[in-house]
Amino acid sequence: MADRGSKQVSGSTGDADEAVVLPEFAPDSEELELDTTVLIEDPGPEVPSVEEPDTTEVARVAMVFEPSGKQVRAPVGVNVFDVASWNAIAVDSTCGGHGTCRKCRVQILEGEVPAGSVDARAFTEEEMAAGWRLACQAAAWSDLRVHVPPLTTRPKASTVGVGRQVIHRPTVLKRFLELPEPNLSDQRPDLRRVMDGITDIASSADPMVLRGLPRVLRGADFAVTAVVVDDILVAVEPGDTSDRVFGIAFDLGTTSVVATLLDLTNGMPLAVSSMLNKQQRYGADVISRISATMLDPSSLESLQQLAHDTLDELTEEVCTEAGVERPEVYQVALAGNATMVQIALGIDPEPLGVAPFILAAEDYPDVKADELGIKVNPRARACLFPALGAYVGGDIVAGALACGMDRDQRIRLFIDVGTNCEMILGNGEQLLATAAPAGPAFEAASIACGMRAAAGAIEVVRIDDSGLQIEAIEGAEPTGICGSGLVDAVAELVRVGLIDSSGRFVPDEVARELAPQVADRLVMRGKERVFALSGEVPIDPASLDRVVYLSQRDVRELQFAKAAISTGWAILLEEFGIKPEEVQQVLLAGSFGSYLSPKNAIRIGLVPDISVPRVVSAGNVAGEGAKMALLSGSERNGAHTLVEVINYVELSDREDFNDRFVEELAFPVT
Ligand code: FES
Repeated sequence: MADRGSKQVSGSTGDADEAVVLPEFAPDSEELELDTTVLIEDPGPEVPSVEEPDTTEVARVAMVFEPSGKQVRAPVGVNVFDVASWNAIAVDSTCGGHGTCRKCRVQILEGEVPAGSVDARAFTEEEMAAGWRLACQAAAWSDLRVHVPPLTTRPKASTVGVGRQVIHRPTVLKRFLELPEPNLSDQRPDLRRVMDGITDIASSADPMVLRGLPRVLRGADFAVTAVVVDDILVAVEPGDTSDRVFGIAFDLGTTSVVATLLDLTNGMPLAVSSMLNKQQRYGADVISRISATMLDPSSLESLQQLAHDTLDELTEEVCTEAGVERPEVYQVALAGNATMVQIALGIDPEPLGVAPFILAAEDYPDVKADELGIKVNPRARACLFPALGAYVGGDIVAGALACGMDRDQRIRLFIDVGTNCEMILGNGEQLLATAAPAGPAFEAASIACGMRAAAGAIEVVRIDDSGLQIEAIEGAEPTGICGSGLVDAVAELVRVGLIDSSGRFVPDEVARELAPQVADRLVMRGKERVFALSGEVPIDPASLDRVVYLSQRDVRELQFAKAAISTGWAILLEEFGIKPEEVQQVLLAGSFGSYLSPKNAIRIGLVPDISVPRVVSAGNVAGEGAKMALLSGSERNGAHTLVEVINYVELSDREDFNDRFVEELAFPVT
C-alpha cells in the first residue's frame, strides 16, 4: 500500500490508487432480532472507546480490502465497518455496527488499529496480536490493509446509512410456481392459474403480462416464476429465476451521480459506480442549469437527455460489473435535489429558480424507470423521494432517512455542505430544516487556485513548528486546492494568527512574530496579499502563477459560505430553543461535507463548537436512503412520513438574516 503521509511542500507523497468512497451497506445474519424498534432506536456508542489522534494530520486514509484487493479512500477516523459497507464489501453483523453482536470480525494486515475494550471481549489475546478486530470498533486513523472473511450467514437485514439496520422487505418479490397443466376439468384461464399461486403477494396483474403469457407457460411446461412489484404481477418468466432479483439505487447529484446495484434477495450490494453528471457543460450548479432553460427552452430537453444518458451509462456499468442482465433489474430508487429530479422528468425547473421558489410537486408518483432513461426491465418502476421545498429536495429527505433523523432521540444537526447547504436539526420528535446559499467556495469554483477534489488538489494543510505541510490528492504535484484543503488552510492560518478574526491577513511584522516558520509565504501578488501554499521559500512574486496560493479574496469567499451556514443552523437552534453546546452530534453529509476535517470545521465556526468526536462524517447518505427504499417498502414509506414531520424554516424572508449573517462572518476567537 502506498504511503499517504503528509509531506513537506513541493515533495511527493505517492498516493494509493483509489476507488471513490461510496456509502454502501453491510449484511446481517439470520439471527437478527426482527424488532425494528429496538434495532433502530439504539444510537450506539456516542464516542469511540480509544483515544483519537489529531484529525488535522490527514483528511483521508487509504484502505485495501482483501481478498478482493479493492482500494478505497475514506474520511479519517471512520470505522472499518462503515468504509467496507460504503464500498460494497459485506461484513457480517447483526447489531448494525453497535458493537454488541461481535460478528464483524476482520483482520488488520497492515496499519495500526489499537484494540479496544470490546475487542478484548470478542477475541483471545493471540487473535488480537494477529490483528483481529471488530470492524465496527476499528477506527481508521491511518492507511490500512484489511482482510474481510466471507459471510457465514444469509443476511436478513442490512446496515445502511448511519447505523440504520434495515430488515429486508423489498416490494419486488419472485415466486417459482409449478402449475398444474390445464385439462378439461381444469379450464382456468392462464392468468387465473398464475394468480391462484400468488394470492398472498399479488392482488392484480399488469395487463402487459398477458402478451407473452400463453407462450411462456407452455414453453416452460407451466414451471414459471411470477414477478410481483408492489402487489402487482408484472412478469412471468420461464423456469426458476427466483434467485435473480435486482434493483439499482441512484444518487442523482448536480455534480456527480452514483449508482449501486443491489441483490434484492439478500440486500447484498454487487456493484457501485459513479461519474460526473453529464449536464456539467450547462454549468456547475443548479442555478446555471435552471438559467439555461430560461434562456433557451430547448435546453430542457437537452439537459433531460444528458441526465438520462448519465443514469443509463451507470446502469450499464453496474450491470456489467455484476454480471446482471438489465431485464433482471425490476426496481430503481432515485434521490436527487428538486432541480435534478424535475429536469430528469422533463419538468420545467424555472419556478424553482425564482422567488417564491415553487416545486412542481412535493411528491411524485412512481414512474417507469424508462421515463428516466434507465433501460432495465420494461416494467420496472422508479421510486422518487419527496421534497420539502425547492432547496431541500429528495436527496436531503433520503439523507435524513438514512441518518434516522426521526428516530434518534439525541439532538442532532445534519448538514449537507455544498453550494446550497441543507440542514436539519432534530431530536427524533421535533425536526426543523432549512437551506442556506453557501455559494461556490466549497466546490472551489470561486477560489483563485480552486479545483475539484482530483489528483493534484491540495486537500490537507497543516502548520507545525517546521513549517507548512500539505497533502495533495494521489500524492501528485499540487496544482490547486479543493474545498477541504481550503477549509484546512484558513483554519490553520486562523489558528496560528496569520488570519485575524475578521478574516484579514495580518501585517508582515505581526506574521513574523506569530508564525515565523511560515510568515515568508505571505507575499504580494499584484495589489493583493496571498499566502503561498506550494513552492519553495523565499517565494518569488514573479513565480506566483506557478504556485498554489490562498488569496485574501478566497478567505472572504469562505467566510461568506461559512457565515451563511452558521447563520442557518444558529436560527434553527434558536427556533428549537437550545444553545449550540446542547447539540449532541453533527452529521457532515455529502461528497464534500464527509471529507471536511471536523476539528477545522469547528475552528472556523462552520459547525457548533462541540467536542470533535461528536462531529462525524455521514458519507453519501442520499444514496444510502435510496438503497433503503429498495430494501424495504416500509422505509420507502418512511420517507413520506418524514416530509410530514419536518418543518421548514425559510431564511430569505427573515428580517434579521442579514444582520446575523454579518455577525457570523467573523472567525471564532480561541
Ligand atoms: S457489527 Fe456487531 S459488533 Fe460490530
